[in-house]
Amino acid sequence: MILDIINKKRLGKELSYQELDTIFNGYLKGDVADYQMSALLMAICINGMTDEEIFALTKIFIDSGDILDFSDLPGIKVDKHSTGGIGDKTTLVIVPIVAACGCPVVKMSGRGLGYTGGTIDKLESIPGYRIDLSDDEILKQVYDIGLVVTGQTGDLVPMDKAIYALRDVTSTVSSIPLIASSIMSKKIAGGADKILIDIKVGNGALLSNREDAKKLGDLMIRIGEYYGREVRTILSDMNTPLGKTIGNSLEVLEAIDVLRGVEKDNPLVDLCVTLASNMVSMSLDIPVKEAKEKVLEVIQNGSAYHKFEEMVQRQGGNLSKVKVSNHVYFLKSPKKGVIQKIDALEFGKLALYLGAGKMSMDDSIDYTVGVKLNKLLGETVKKGEVLATLYYKKKLPEIVFDNLYKID
Ligand code: URA
Repeated sequence: MILDIINKKRLGKELSYQELDTIFNGYLKGDVADYQMSALLMAICINGMTDEEIFALTKIFIDSGDILDFSDLPGIKVDKHSTGGIGDKTTLVIVPIVAACGCPVVKMSGRGLGYTGGTIDKLESIPGYRIDLSDDEILKQVYDIGLVVTGQTGDLVPMDKAIYALRDVTSTVSSIPLIASSIMSKKIAGGADKILIDIKVGNGALLSNREDAKKLGDLMIRIGEYYGREVRTILSDMNTPLGKTIGNSLEVLEAIDVLRGVEKDNPLVDLCVTLASNMVSMSLDIPVKEAKEKVLEVIQNGSAYHKFEEMVQRQGGNLSKVKVSNHVYFLKSPKKGVIQKIDALEFGKLALYLGAGKMSMDDSIDYTVGVKLNKLLGETVKKGEVLATLYYKKKLPEIVFDNLYKID
């Protein structure tokens, strides 16, 4: 039976709900072996899936664990998901902005994957910050102050955890149907009324071309329609790291500067304003232009930063104790010219080698290390000028300048 299902997909035929259920739930129960599931995943990767199969798979994923219900909370709950990138600290910025605009936000975030950092790791760089709130604590906090960013509660989509781990080691991560059902099942099971997806495109992202990113976005919109959830998608660049920092504490400090309105000529600000405006527009059912005015106002009048401080304090964090390493190395430009490339993937690897992420399951993260870009894409530099500051602890990894930068 299992072999028939794998063979059917190998031949590019459509699997029924029953067949998908048999093999995926069989895998979760331990009745289907890793090698059999790997073969099916590869057949899906190569032959794709029909919309009917994808809707069925999403349901099987959702039904594999708890389904959260925030319907008691007033207002329309909009969740946001990023497909992951280097230096992506948008959640830290937009959740307080959206809450300051009067829209309740419950955000359950994850840890880093591969070269990309996770919001939960970034928040843990704030000493004391709790990421393990119970369902009751989440509800109470959202009632009281309108926002929460925590780790995943309960047993949400355990199927995704099992399948993702296998995809990671079988080169089947970048399948559009598998990405779409993985993300959408988590958002729907997480209790979102409406969903905003930031799809990253570039060499530091899962998808490197816009055509695939557009396909993924359209597919997630169709899954949303099937499940009665409004979904909007934004495509954003990930050929260059987002903003000026990569590494946990450094990213928290940059997010604070954006919330305080200190950061200006920084692409991170534009993306955060776009994402937050869309979330507010979806939550309050108003045009994006009107939502953007509210977003800019709460940054300017300090209420967005105040919300961030309130959330951190409520979750036990102490912002005055956020530390960066005092071992620094200044990476200088070997020539004068204009910065044509700051390679996202190479900078992601560099931050990982510095200790900002985990190279293996047993590694621990050093929250104080990372990279600060002193110059951004398109800027003119002189020979010897500092391009980036590396914060390290033990020793510096080997740096191949031409992998990181192109200056002409
Ligand atoms: N992020 C997810 O949550 N799942 C995927 O499959 C890819 C990115």
